[in-house]
Amino acid sequence: MKTVYLTLVFLTVSGLVILCCSRDKEPLVSYTHPSSWMNVKSDEFHGKKVVEISYSSCKSCHGTSLDGGKSGVSCFKCHQIYPHSSKWVELASAGFHGNYIRGENWSMQDCKPCHGNDYRGGQSQKSCYDCHTGSQGPETCNVCHGSQANAAPPEDLNNRTSTSEITIGAHQIMISNFVATNENLTIKNVCSVCHQLPGSISQAGHIDTTPHAEVLSSLGWDRNKRTCANSCHGEEEHVWNNFK
Ligand code: HEC
Ligand code: HEC
Ligand code: HEC
Ligand code: HEC
Ligand code: HEC
Ligand code: HEC
Repeated sequence: MKTVYLTLVFLTVSGLVILCCSRDKEPLVSYTHPSSWMNVKSDEFHGKKVVEISYSSCKSCHGTSLDGGKSGVSCFKCHQIYPHSSKWVELASAGFHGNYIRGENWSMQDCKPCHGNDYRGGQSQKSCYDCHTGSQGPETCNVCHGSQANAAPPEDLNNRTSTSEITIGAHQIMISNFVATNENLTIKNVCSVCHQLPGSISQAGHIDTTPHAEVLSSLGWDRNKRTCANSCHGEEEHVWNNFK
């Protein structure tokens, strides 16, 4: 009798233990987020929570990769690019944020809901200016092409640097010659000798859907021959990417 009694007690206790533990493991049954979880203006907004405490705590239900897990709701359902992967800041990686922006034909609209329309951080509290320290942040002229010296290639738009590339060619030789020999030309306006010079990235004629940069038609740029028919060089025919 005593053994039966003890067994019963043991079973009841372990039953309770199992029940409690399994409750702890499966809290989703009755789990709901606050009603204003999706309200951007609320203090309980999930984005605000993530910025405050990071997203580690979301992983227990939304999965270690935050693609759903047992909650069945992936963060990527609404945010294609957030949470950012570790590759997002790895320069050499295909998943680098610059490559994503290139793939969007250089549009940075996708970043603004979180990083702010002015890129100064917004609710994400991570400013693009932390790394893009130029006066216009990520819209500064040498962020996508050029170098510290000026915004002309190298680098070209695909981060290449060889002057034998048609996209790079004699840019730097020509620019220093022009600036040195013409008092009206400065590093800021010298581009307008050959291009329509944009005042901002969104100016019409700048980033478009044509495959290559536009050269002023008056120069008679011939992309196959890589020369300018109406150049200042007289009879000599200079090849843009084989400049001697
Ligand atoms: C204990 C489990 C659990 C945790 C932890 C958890 N979630 Fe959830 N979450 C769920 C479940 C279940 C749903 C789907 C049902 C619902 O909307 O409540 C969900 C839904 C969501 C939704 C969609 C809401 C909607 O109305 O469409 C968002 C956004 C969300 N979670 C964000 C987060 C964030 C951010 C964190 C971490 C700060 C987090 N969750 C932590 C279980 C969890
Ligand atoms: C942690 C530092 C860091 C932050 C924060 C950062 N970037 Fe970058 N970004 C870089 C680096 C490094 C490069 C590569 C620069 C280079 O190629 O010389 C880069 C490149 C870029 C490029 C050019 C891509 C290319 O291949 O030419 C764009 C556009 C860009 N970032 C936009 C943004 C925007 C928009 C934000 C904010 C939402 C941002 N970045 C935040 C570090 C950062
Ligand atoms: C859904 C919100 C959201 C969107 C959309 C978003 N970000 Fe972020 N980003 C954040 C938050 C929050 C952080 C702060 C750190 C973290 O949680 O990763 C951050 C951090 C970063 C960092 C710094 C990462 C590091 O490890 O230092 C870079 C760079 C960045 N974002 C670039 C971008 C760019 C470029 C875009 C647009 C193409 C973009 N982000 C879109 C929310 C977002
Ligand atoms: C049902 C759609 C939905 C889901 C699922 C979702 N979010 Fe969001 N999240 C939003 C919206 C809407 C915003 C407001 C910004 C915007 O328009 O992109 C936002 C903003 C954010 C922000 C930025 C806060 C800010 O304003 O800078 C972070 C961080 C964030 N979400 C993290 C997460 C994480 C982590 C998950 C998954 C656990 C998640 N979200 C799942 C819709 C969603
Ligand atoms: C977000 C990336 C990005 C930034 C920032 C940027 N550019 Fe560009 N730029 C491009 C792209 C892409 C092209 C090639 C456009 C095309 O296909 O015609 C280009 C081309 C050019 C050209 C060649 C002529 C043309 O329009 O095709 C000049 C000149 C130029 N940019 C100047 C500037 C100046 C000046 C700034 C700063 C006000 C600037 N860029 C900032 C992406 C950028
Ligand atoms: C002597 C004429 C000349 C000058 C001056 C000049 N460019 Fe160019 N630029 C070209 C030619 C030619 C190309 C190649 C066009 C093509 O691919 O068909 C080009 C291409 C470009 C490209 C596209 C690179 C790519 O990856 O496709 C950018 C960006 C650019 N120039 C920016 C500038 C900027 C910024 C300045 C001023 C600082 C400048 N250029 C000055 C002639 C010039």
